[in-house]
Amino acid sequence: MQLEFIAAPQLDVADAAALAALHTAVYPPKPGAKKAAPQQAWVAPQWHILIRDEADQLVSHVGAVTRLCLCDSNEILLGGIGGVMTQPAQRGKGYAGAGVGRAIDFLRQEMRVEFSLLFCAPRMQSYYRRFGFSSFAGDTRARRGDSEVIFPRNEVMAIAAQKPLPKCALLDLCGLPW
Ligand SMILES: CC(C)(COP(=O)(O)OP(=O)(O)OC[C@H]1O[C@@H](n2cnc3c(N)ncnc32)[C@H](O)[C@@H]1OP(=O)(O)O)[C@@H](O)C(=O)NCCC(=O)NCCS
Repeated sequence: MQLEFIAAPQLDVADAAALAALHTAVYPPKPGAKKAAPQQAWVAPQWHILIRDEADQLVSHVGAVTRLCLCDSNEILLGGIGGVMTQPAQRGKGYAGAGVGRAIDFLRQEMRVEFSLLFCAPRMQSYYRRFGFSSFAGDTRARRGDSEVIFPRNEVMAIAAQKPLPKCALLDLCGLPW
């Protein structure tokens, strides 16, 4: 397995195409599926962790962002992890796990975020607990369309970085989630 850590503007055309193909393999379009409005939009990662197999094929991806957010009324630098996906045929080999671990370390040690946050389906909570994530105790607010939404608490997980996880009643992401 090879991990390549790359800032989004440095992604070349071939990597961007491989990433788009990975996304389609993981989330194939559903013909005839109706779009419920308003759809949640997600911000694009600022950094990509591209995970390749021995044949140099892109098999997995993890994205990372940082954002100045409001924890109650205190401004904090938050880390974000998203875009976690692995080719269906390549799952269970530790690819995504290696990328998530790299993203946690990068945000903690290099970006020196206060803590990191991710959004996941409730069934994925046990997976992320393995890395040290726990359910975020407060409400998390982010932009959806022209309004804002509070995410269900069982879809938001956090991991400490510079300090123990803060106790804030409302975490405002001040923008789109990731
Ligand atoms: C989740 C996902 C990224 C894991 O990728 P991976 O490279 O197989 O991850 P790892 O090899 O590090 O870990 C595999 C573990 O994830 C767990 N896992 C994967 N999908 C899961 C799911 N839907 N529910 C619960 N656990 C899940 C597996 O049980 C496996 O556990 P094991 O190690 O005990 O066998 C991959 O299954 C995927 O792309 N899923 C679709 C997209 C998605 O749901 N992304 C997560 C968004 S938060």
